Amino acid sequence: MIFDCSTLSASTLYPLLAGTVVPRPIAWVSTVDATGRSNLAPFSFFQLVSDAPPTLMISVNRKADGQAKDTSVNVQATQQLIVHLVSPSQLALMNASAANFATGASEIDALQIPTVAATMVKPPRLADSVVSFECELVSLTPYPADQPSCDIILAKVLCLHIDDALLGPDHRLKHDQIDWLYRLGGQWYGHSQQQDNFQLARPASAEAALAAAAN
Ligand SMILES: Cc1cc2nc3c(=O)[nH]c(=O)nc-3n(C[C@H](O)[C@H](O)[C@H](O)COP(=O)(O)O)c2cc1C
Repeated sequence: MIFDCSTLSASTLYPLLAGTVVPRPIAWVSTVDATGRSNLAPFSFFQLVSDAPPTLMISVNRKADGQAKDTSVNVQATQQLIVHLVSPSQLALMNASAANFATGASEIDALQIPTVAATMVKPPRLADSVVSFECELVSLTPYPADQPSCDIILAKVLCLHIDDALLGPDHRLKHDQIDWLYRLGGQWYGHSQQQDNFQLARPASAEAALAAAAN
């Protein structure tokens, strides 16, 4: 079957693209707003785009009304972010943090996610994340320019934190042992050390997210 993208609606095209460009790592992004209030949200349109300089890409969709999401607003305002990778044990909290919390409400506080002070930037760093990248903004580009559907963030990595347990001799990652969590299409996820993919529904509201995280 051939799909001509110029004839497809966004709702048809999205699952075909997001369901085939897989598996995707999940960037769990902490930021602060101009007044210092923290924000946390996951994004799977995420990749390493350069190692010299070390640069990550995150694509943050616009809301239905065309407004930027809190993560984009905060990154634009403060030029800083921390990208955390998500461990399987953090799945429920990651999912809960994607709920529609009010602007200015901290998902980190609401979900009681433990943090530590970052080394080089202002956003809080998630204490239980085994990998985190402290970053400064390179560019935030509304795309496409005439009617943006997303903001493409390029972020330079200033330093990375990797849990010692993931490292073997000579700072080599233990690729044979690490259980990475990744996003597939729809509500599907997978683990690198598990055979079966599984589904997880997004919380319908901030209240539902808090209830789910409490269980
Ligand atoms: C696993 C997962 C991956 C997601 N990936 C993206 C993404 O790539 N781009 C995006 O705009 N939203 C993505 N979302 C939805 C955002 O996390 C959600 O809209 C969030 O409320 C944005 O928060 P903010 O307004 O605080 O920035 C994803 C959600 C989940 C659970």
